[in-house]
Amino acid sequence: MSPVIRKHADVVAILHAPETWSNQVSSHLNVPNGMDAPEHTLYRKLIEPFFDAQTLHRFEPVLKNIVTRLFRELPEEFNVESDLAYPFALQAQCAFMGWPCDLEAALLQWIQRQQKASAAGDREAMRLLATEFSQLMVAEFKRARAGEYPVDSLTSRLVHLRIEGEPLTDEYLVSIVRNWTVGELGTIANAVKAIVNFFKANQVVRKQLTQAPEHIDHAVDEILRFNAPLASNRRRAVCPMHINGQAVKADTVVTLDWGAANTDPEVFEQPHQFRWDRDPRDNLLYGTGIHVCPGAPLARLELRAFTQTLLTQKTRSPAFHAG
Ligand code: HEM
Repeated sequence: MSPVIRKHADVVAILHAPETWSNQVSSHLNVPNGMDAPEHTLYRKLIEPFFDAQTLHRFEPVLKNIVTRLFRELPEEFNVESDLAYPFALQAQCAFMGWPCDLEAALLQWIQRQQKASAAGDREAMRLLATEFSQLMVAEFKRARAGEYPVDSLTSRLVHLRIEGEPLTDEYLVSIVRNWTVGELGTIANAVKAIVNFFKANQVVRKQLTQAPEHIDHAVDEILRFNAPLASNRRRAVCPMHINGQAVKADTVVTLDWGAANTDPEVFEQPHQFRWDRDPRDNLLYGTGIHVCPGAPLARLELRAFTQTLLTQKTRSPAFHAG
């Protein structure tokens, strides 16, 4: 059983010691999350421009249209997860990558089956799902190379990437996109559910934010601090180590529990309460250190657009209002 690290101080210490806590925890290619420096640095530099201010600025109006349409077309009775959270995450991801609409349905099915297989620990199903994902992506890469995507679309930019002068293989490209897709779909959908539930139960904060929407990013980060959208990541000890006085043998793989670290009472007084006065530097929502989430600016943009529209849903279904 992999030791679970729950204390904020221990998680931070591990994240800031990548030379002793490796990200190589599995034999599967995972670009860049399963890599260590110097290889990680190389691939990290390659993907960061995909989340830069210019790319996100161009994506913002597209995203706003998605949110507006989703809320407008929401039936009177709806399920937050299946009618709002997943469609939003999926449409945002497909639009961000420039993917065609018919990929949306295939990806929705894929992520649902992936979650089921992962929860059941079904390795064979996971292996088949990985192959299926590769096939879906390789078909899009082929279209992008054939010029069927606009040159400035993210899929086109991806297939034209070079590392030390060489194009990336499909295997590496699929891994990059899998990191983004799994990173985006599950976490954004979980975040949306948490935000809807939070505002349903916290009308005071809802009112404060409606009057001062410039604080939405700060509020969303705090809501997600104690409603972790991402459960965990792993690290491997490269040599014998100690965590909080406990000996850990070399090669032990530990699990970093984001939710527990972000509600550690030694750092967060009343850890499960929303508070405006917390120090955002303590919040591990997007991690810290060399593997800190590169998609955080995109995630914040998506969740801001979603929350802005959510806050204007005054008279709608009880799903948005308590009682
Ligand atoms: C609310 C949404 C999100 C949360 C809470 C989240 C959280 C995190 C965290 C905690 C890490 C650090 C993992 C570690 O230290 O091992 C991480 C890494 C990563 N995230 Fe996110 N993420 C979110 C959205 C996204 C999005 C939208 C993308 C891209 C489309 C993305 C792409 C990545 C990638 C590629 C990494 C690996 C970075 C590396 O190893 O250098 N994430 N994320």
